[in-house]
Amino acid sequence: MRSRRWPQPCAPWDDSAVSAERVMDPAVGTDEEQFDRTLRPRTLADYIGQEQVRENLAILIEAARRRGEPVEHVLLCGPPGLGKTTLATIIANELGVAIKTTSGPAVDHAGALASILTNLSRRDVLFIDEIHRLNRVVEEALYPAMEDFAFDIVVGKGAGAASVRLPLAPFTCVGATTRQGLLSAPMRDRFGAVYRLDFYTEQELLRIVHRSARILGFEIEEAAAAELARRSRGTPRIANRLLRRVRDYAQVRADGRGTMEATRAALAMLEVDDRGLEPLDRRILETVITKFGGGPVGLDTIATSVAEEPETIEDVHEPFLIQSGLLARTHRGRVATELAYRHLGLTPPPGPPQQTTLQL
Ligand code: ADE
Repeated sequence: MRSRRWPQPCAPWDDSAVSAERVMDPAVGTDEEQFDRTLRPRTLADYIGQEQVRENLAILIEAARRRGEPVEHVLLCGPPGLGKTTLATIIANELGVAIKTTSGPAVDHAGALASILTNLSRRDVLFIDEIHRLNRVVEEALYPAMEDFAFDIVVGKGAGAASVRLPLAPFTCVGATTRQGLLSAPMRDRFGAVYRLDFYTEQELLRIVHRSARILGFEIEEAAAAELARRSRGTPRIANRLLRRVRDYAQVRADGRGTMEATRAALAMLEVDDRGLEPLDRRILETVITKFGGGPVGLDTIATSVAEEPETIEDVHEPFLIQSGLLARTHRGRVATELAYRHLGLTPPPGPPQQTTLQL
């Protein structure tokens, strides 16, 4: 357990780290973000996939509603694009309360956190994306807020310093992280419910593609929708992005309908291959195979080789490559599998099957 440190004096409080919205507010932001928001389900009933999480959340929300209490703090873990933000918004929506959104790096001092917390109303949802990136001082200031709905402020300096406890409205913290392993144990322990989101099945993605196409008023053939679902890397955000690109292509280069031909052509232009891999995914595999003999090779070495941040590779690209059986994590580093060689049209090295012990 870490020793408790008092938060830094808070003034001047600023609220630059938070964005608040009534959940039904019209979306703001870039066109892409706007579309993304338009396509997001707003209720649990509209949400496709993650059955286990959905059922658990439904009970959590209903129980809180009947008791007139805030929902317990919820931690959502999993790769990007699987619906962590969407679920946080749904929790707020189902309760008819506001959601305030921020992220670990944005809340960079205790004063920013104080400003956010003191602006919450009873039962509101505070969504903290990338919660594993909160700095330690802010994290420790968040503990009493989550546990006792109180914020401790230090007044004065030196020997005369005193701590004043500010009561907060009872609220729900929804934390999201791509890296549960990086979250401190005391932080994790403050969440009453911890859910892990998994990649979606093709059938679930197909339903999501059809739902999004309906919302966009875009007519898409069944086979084309299935092709999109298959090439979306188990990720709704990618499925929706590809769907919009196919729609653009169909409008500009064809008759506006989502045919198989238009879908294949749009995906080819985006360099999305048959398995849904994008250029960087393929570059990662190629690097491991051609520069490092198939591995094992360390993450940082791969990152330097492909000129990307190690975090991007680990959070965004690797989970799907591992899930697809193209890459394996061993105790000595990353290893390209036989399937990766074949996918890139290369011949796997002879010899016994590679040892691909998962690193736990
Ligand atoms: N759009 C993005 N994610 C979705 C989901 N899980 N269900 C329905 N539509 C979505």
